Amino acid sequence: MAARRLLGLLALAVLLAAADAGVTSAYRRKLEATADMPLDADVFRAPPGYNAPQQVHITLGDQTGTAMTVSWVTPDEPGNGTVAYGLSPETMVLSAKATLTRYDYYNYTSGFIHHCTLTKLKHGVKYYYAMGFGHTVRTFSFTTPPKPGPDVPFKFGLIGDLGQTFDSNSTVSHYEANGGDAVLFVGDLSYADNYPLHDNNRWDTWARFVERSVAYQPWLWTAGNHELDYDPEIGETTLFKPFTHRYPTPYRAAGSTEPFWYSVKIASAHIIVLSSYSSYGKYTPQWLWLSQELGRVDRKTTPWLIVLLHSPWYNSNNYHYMEGETMRVQFERWLVDAKVDIVLAGHVHSYERSRRFSNIEYDIVNGKATPVHNLDAPVYINIGDGGNIEGIADNFTKPMPAYSAFREASFGHATLEIKNRTHAYYEWHRNHDGAKVTADSVWLTNRYWMPTDDSN
Ligand SMILES: *[C@@H]1O[C@H](CO)[C@@H](O)[C@H](O)[C@H]1NC(C)=O
Ligand SMILES: *[C@@H]1O[C@H](CO)[C@@H](O)[C@H](O)[C@H]1NC(C)=O
Ligand SMILES: *[C@@H]1O[C@H](CO)[C@@H](O)[C@H](O)[C@H]1NC(C)=O
Ligand SMILES: *[C@@H]1O[C@H](CO)[C@@H](O)[C@H](O)[C@H]1NC(C)=O
Ligand SMILES: *[C@@H]1O[C@H](CO)[C@@H](O)[C@H](O)[C@H]1NC(C)=O
Ligand SMILES: [Fe+2]
Repeated sequence: MAARRLLGLLALAVLLAAADAGVTSAYRRKLEATADMPLDADVFRAPPGYNAPQQVHITLGDQTGTAMTVSWVTPDEPGNGTVAYGLSPETMVLSAKATLTRYDYYNYTSGFIHHCTLTKLKHGVKYYYAMGFGHTVRTFSFTTPPKPGPDVPFKFGLIGDLGQTFDSNSTVSHYEANGGDAVLFVGDLSYADNYPLHDNNRWDTWARFVERSVAYQPWLWTAGNHELDYDPEIGETTLFKPFTHRYPTPYRAAGSTEPFWYSVKIASAHIIVLSSYSSYGKYTPQWLWLSQELGRVDRKTTPWLIVLLHSPWYNSNNYHYMEGETMRVQFERWLVDAKVDIVLAGHVHSYERSRRFSNIEYDIVNGKATPVHNLDAPVYINIGDGGNIEGIADNFTKPMPAYSAFREASFGHATLEIKNRTHAYYEWHRNHDGAKVTADSVWLTNRYWMPTDDSN
């Protein structure tokens, strides 16, 4: 019986290989309801001590990481807004002052939110930092990214649509075990908006939950639809209100006018973050910024060009099918012309990786609407599989489109290890009922330095 099944599988594999078809993974996760961790879960616990700083997180404070922005919340009173930092816990002789903000959301009032940019940091150096002076002091550390250069290795974690379920906790644990140096987060953080009145206490629990990683290494934020928090029925009409109060981005350093689109340069990568939920039509600020930004990319210094956005342009899942289409039509040609290496998206709660395909010839009368193999095109990766409460998107379109290389309806995260200007190793890690399993991996070659056909 088992042998016959194996033979059948082999025959199928041969057939698939012959047709050069992509793979729709047959793996099925254990069927169980995705549930948010309860409010008394260990990962949500507030740190002990009066007015103890909580929800500590860091992100780049400038384009390359010689500045780092530290954010935290104090629950009882504003407290001391100074961050002390230095090369060891005993010599935190540098200091910087935070800005303080708060916001109301319907009948919720946030804690005291602090943002403090530590400047004059050196590349590739471990720093210790502490805050909460006068009451409860907490100390953390991070290592600044290496100076940008063409052959500087670096390992990114790729996470999206995380939420705060037991599966979300597995995703973070598996990422920690895989050991990346910074996270490219493709949007949809807390899913607080799934609660009545967008219960913003769930923004607080989320930030306490991820502190164990993001207090120690920068996560780069992309805005997703769950960051909009737009609810006119309860009088909340300021887009992205909780997100912008809580999660700063280094947009000014990138010549941007809004926190939702910006760029950074880490090691050998130039990373462009776009907003699927801000206008991007011709002449809009985001359109104008991107048109100029692509001209600022220097592949000799930062060979890898990576774009982050929330709503995918290539997605063969019936869930959110074609939602990213208008943005694709607006920008795909630019990205192909710029030879972007990878476009990372989330939104669809599944995993999918594309071959190098483009769909830029169609002009409304010529009928050329089918995506075609194109070695100048990026690989599109959907990692909206962080494990949030909305569950898995397991309804893929049939037949599998030619552009799709691999797709699977499971939760997990990915890692991208840039080795040098020509090679990067990409791996997707499925959360397999508690264990982590590498379920898809590929060597990617750089579109500028070695544009070989790498996407099979
Ligand atoms: C979350 O994961 C961490 C690390 O694996 C573990 O210590 C903790 O107990 C988990 N919490 C929940 C609520 O599952
Ligand atoms: C805040 O803490 C720093 C570091 O201990 C100290 O130098 C400063 O005087 C404190 N500020 C206030 C207003 O207490
Ligand atoms: C906000 O309003 C909801 C619904 O009326 C209520 O359940 C909740 O306790 C209120 N929260 C606060 C902080 O007043
Ligand atoms: C999958 O999606 C298609 C297209 O939206 C729909 O017709 C079909 O009913 C869905 N199948 C399931 C099992 O939900
Ligand atoms: C770049 O890295 C790849 C993968 O590790 C390796 O095979 C290749 O030799 C490296 N190139 C150079 C010029 O070192
Ligand atoms: Fe989303």
